Formats: sequence, structure tokens, C-alpha cells
Amino acid sequence: MLWAALLALQGVCVGAAHGMQHYPAAWGHYDVCKSQIYTEEGLAWDYMACQPEAVDMTKYLRVTIDPPNITCGDPPETYCALENPYMCNNECDASTEELAHPPELMFDFEGRNPTTFWQSTSWKKYPKPLQVNLTLSWNKTIELTDDIILTFESGRPEQMVLEKSLDQGRTWTPYQFYATDCLDAFTMEPKTVNELTQRTLLDIICTEDYSRGYVWKNDKTVRFEIKDRFALFAGPRLHNMASLYGQLDTTKTLRDFFTITDLRIRLLKPATGATMVDENNLSRYFYAISDIKVQGRCKCNLHANTCVYDKGRLGCECEHNTTGPDCSRCKRHYHGRAWSVGSYLPIPKGTANICEYYSCKEIAMICCGDTTDIAVEIPLKCSSGTVKVRTGTIGPLQKHPEHQPQKETTRVCDNAMLRCQNGGTCHHHQRCHCSAGFTGVLCERARCSGGECDGQSSGQDPLLLLLLQPMILVFLLH
Ligand SMILES: *[C@@H]1O[C@H](CO)[C@@H](O)[C@H](O)[C@H]1NC(C)=O
Ligand SMILES: *[C@@H]1O[C@H](CO)[C@@H](O)[C@H](O)[C@H]1NC(C)=O
Ligand SMILES: *[C@@H]1O[C@H](CO)[C@@H](O)[C@H](O)[C@H]1NC(C)=O
Ligand SMILES: *[C@@H]1O[C@H](CO)[C@@H](O)[C@H](O)[C@H]1NC(C)=O
Ligand SMILES: *[C@@H]1O[C@H](CO)[C@@H](O)[C@H](O)[C@H]1NC(C)=O
Repeated sequence: MLWAALLALQGVCVGAAHGMQHYPAAWGHYDVCKSQIYTEEGLAWDYMACQPEAVDMTKYLRVTIDPPNITCGDPPETYCALENPYMCNNECDASTEELAHPPELMFDFEGRNPTTFWQSTSWKKYPKPLQVNLTLSWNKTIELTDDIILTFESGRPEQMVLEKSLDQGRTWTPYQFYATDCLDAFTMEPKTVNELTQRTLLDIICTEDYSRGYVWKNDKTVRFEIKDRFALFAGPRLHNMASLYGQLDTTKTLRDFFTITDLRIRLLKPATGATMVDENNLSRYFYAISDIKVQGRCKCNLHANTCVYDKGRLGCECEHNTTGPDCSRCKRHYHGRAWSVGSYLPIPKGTANICEYYSCKEIAMICCGDTTDIAVEIPLKCSSGTVKVRTGTIGPLQKHPEHQPQKETTRVCDNAMLRCQNGGTCHHHQRCHCSAGFTGVLCERARCSGGECDGQSSGQDPLLLLLLQPMILVFLLH
């Protein structure tokens, strides 16, 4: 009978905690992620996903070239054109500004004439492969919002892999393979992004679309197609972003697919233009890149609408009482419920999932508390969304009612207050792990055995205990 009552109460509480977010009273959660718009009825708020604007992310990256001495110009070199071995007027000299081709030139302003570009040494050590890794690091999780576009000044590579990391470069996974012959280079069937479907969107493909350097001399770009992938959910002109957002809200693998901390361009084989490499004139073979485009936004887990670049570091300006570079934690004292990602979808379909204040006043029964000065106050967020607070006490305090704190007293649970009784230890600042033979929120009661409850403390309010236990369950479940 008792357990039936407890379970019923718990059910109501859990249900109410989730249900509450859909009440209009909770709309204020979107305060920082809404804008005023004019409608036929006058001024109104337009609620939106709480995320920073998409910007040119190449301003905030650090580029690393491997091997480090693969950039041309030291010693100076003269290059010939791939198409014409007698046309040798491309000179690289690292010590002369006009003739140097350092990596920064891939990220400078384009539209300059002549174009500026990074260039590798030539394929001096043929047949040893000429391989270069270009690693772009943000030291911050970012979400791609548009195609990644590389523009080559040389012919486009015959083999390359675009890789991504989600953990600051500790582990890498391929994003896309590029080759003139996918089967030969990577034993993969060639595919194009147009062959992908909603179901296969996360497949890693090898494409031959961007590797025909010699024949298609005028096409110098290599893409990783983000928008075509978005279009599988949002429609051809991305007119139905709500549908895409709905998917992103519910599918973590999809969200993660477009999320990176680093990108790596692995150049595996330069353009050769012919089937045979001309060993007598290896200065025709090299890599040169004039531009790299990466559009994206800081990943703030939908808890920030601005991201700032300060002291060489990107960081979200977290709202909703969250914190961390990606707003991926609740602020101190705001662990009233488990952290959770916000929502792409505006209210009423989505929820901001704000972190809630956590105080002993509100949820004393899950703090391991000092029984000499905490009152146990129990919020019952059941039915109708209002908070009823029942005040009670446990332990010695009961015998000294004059010490009972005022209802308004707010106590924050910190280490100073973690005192479990009878040898119990505090677990995660949240509850006491009792030693054998004891039970209760603060391990204040002896466990019952064989129907006998020896040493049971006398002063317990049975109603209080009845209320305490389901609340503990509720919080452990969150
Ligand atoms: C490039 O990076 C890959 C791992 O992503 C590594 O296996 C390879 O050795 C690197 N190549 C060079 C030339 O540094
Ligand atoms: C780069 O440095 C390594 C060792 O530091 C050397 O073996 C290699 O020849 C150098 N490569 C170039 C292109 O200078
Ligand atoms: C990356 O960012 C973290 C903080 O988010 C910082 O501690 C670390 O020094 C940064 N690393 C680099 C290489 O900038
Ligand atoms: C080969 O390269 C050299 C420069 O390294 C150049 O002078 C020469 O004209 C090139 N062409 C042929 C066909 O050898
Ligand atoms: C964060 O917490 C403070 C204090 O509890 C509260 O006033 C504020 O509304 C909260 N922020 C949001 C966005 O809910």
C-alpha cells in the first residue's frame, strides 16, 4: 500500500517536471533567443533556436602543415607548368616576400591579382609519395553550415582525403575520399553526393567529381557538400529548415556529422595530368592552394546566441544558466536538473532546457546536509505547475525548533554542508551512501531487519518520510 502510494506520487512528479516546459509561463526561457517582429496584429516575438550566427570560420583557425618543411622556398625552387614542361616561370623563395607561399595565404582575402597561395615543394623524391597534411584547428567545437571549398592553384590532387576530428585532433575519421579512380586509390566504388538519401546521409563516400585536374583545367575547386546533405531533409532550396532542425533535435549522430573541432586535408597524390609521371621533370608536380572556405558557427549546444573570439580563443556566451566553452554544463549551483542540449525548434515544439537553480531550500533532501542547520523543505512540482513547499525537519533540529531557518533562507549545497551520519559518505554532493545497517536521507535511521527496526529514531514524521523518498527517486532518475 505504501509503495503503491510512493510510485504514484513519483509518477506525477516526473510527469509534471517535463510537462511544465510547455506552459506559456516557460516562454521566458527563450528571452535571449527571440526577436521582435511586426505582424498584422502588431509587434510580436519571434522565437528561434538559440545559436550563434554562421560566419567565416577561417578567421579563427590555426593551420599546421605536415611535414613541417614541405612548404616551398627553402631552398628556392623553380616550377614548370603541369601542361607544359617548357613553361617554367613559377618561382618560390621563402626569403622574398613576393615569391614566398606560406600557409596563411590560403586564408587571406581573395580577389587579389595575382592570386596568393600556399605551395608545397615539388615531387623531388619520386617515386616516394608526395604527401602533405594540412590540419585546421579551432580548439572549439564548431558546426558546419555551408560547403567546405578548397581552391587549387595547381592541378587538383589525384588522391586526397578530407578528415575530421571531434576531439581536438586526438582521433580522426574520414569525411570524404577524392580520387581520379576511387577503386584503384581506396578500393571504394565511386559515388556522388546526389546518390545519397536520408537513410545513407552519414555514409562516407569516394567521389571522382573533383579530381580531373588536367582535362578540366578551369575547374579548380574541391568541395565537401554540406548543403546537398542538408537538402535531403530541408528540401532542394533549404526552404524547410524546420524539418532539418527536427531531425537534428532528435538525432545525435546527424548533429555530430556536421560538427568538428579540426579538419585535415590529406594530400596523397598531386595532379600528374598523364598516366605516367615524367621523371625527368619533377618540378611539374606539386600542390598549391589559393583558398579554403569553411563556414560554420560555434557549437553552443543551443544555449547561446553569441560566440566571442577573445585572446585567440573562441567561446560561447552561455545563457540558460549553462557554462563551459560549448555551454555543455550547468553553472555551479544550477544542477537542479540534469544538463541537456537546448532545442533547434522554437516553443512550443522545442524547449530551452535551462539549468535550474539547486539549493537546499528547494531540494534539501538530496543534499547531504548538516542536520544542525538545514530544514528539509520539499518542493512538490506536481499538478498545475505551481510549487508547494512543505517544511519539515529531521535530526536534532527538531528538538530545537528555535533554530529552524526562515522559509526564505536559501542554502546552497556546497562541500561545507555534506555531513552524513553513522559513517555514511557523501556521493556526488547529492546523497549519502550509508554504511551497513543504516538508511535514510542522512543515514539517520537503522535498517529494519526481520520486522524489527532497532534503533529507529523516534522523532521521524512519517508523512515527511513518505514525501522524501519519491523526491529522491525523482532526482536520481534525472
Ligand atoms: C597525416 O595524418 C594521418 C592521420 O590523419 C597520418 O596517418 C599520416 O602519417 C600523416 N601524414 C603526414 C605526411 O604527416
Ligand atoms: C624535411 O626535414 C626532414 C628531416 O627533418 C628531411 O629528411 C627532409 O628531407 C626535409 N624535406 C624537405 C623537402 O626539405
Ligand atoms: C584550447 O582551449 C583550452 C580551453 O578551452 C585551453 O586550455 C587550451 O590551452 C587551448 N589550446 C590551445 C592549443 O590553444
Ligand atoms: C625541366 O625542368 C627544368 C627546370 O628544372 C627546365 O629548365 C626544363 O626546361 C624542363 N623541361 C624539360 C622538357 O626538360
Ligand atoms: C538563471 O538563473 C537565474 C537565477 O536563478 C534566473 O533569474 C534566470 O532567469 C535564469 N536564466 C534563465 C535564462 O532562465
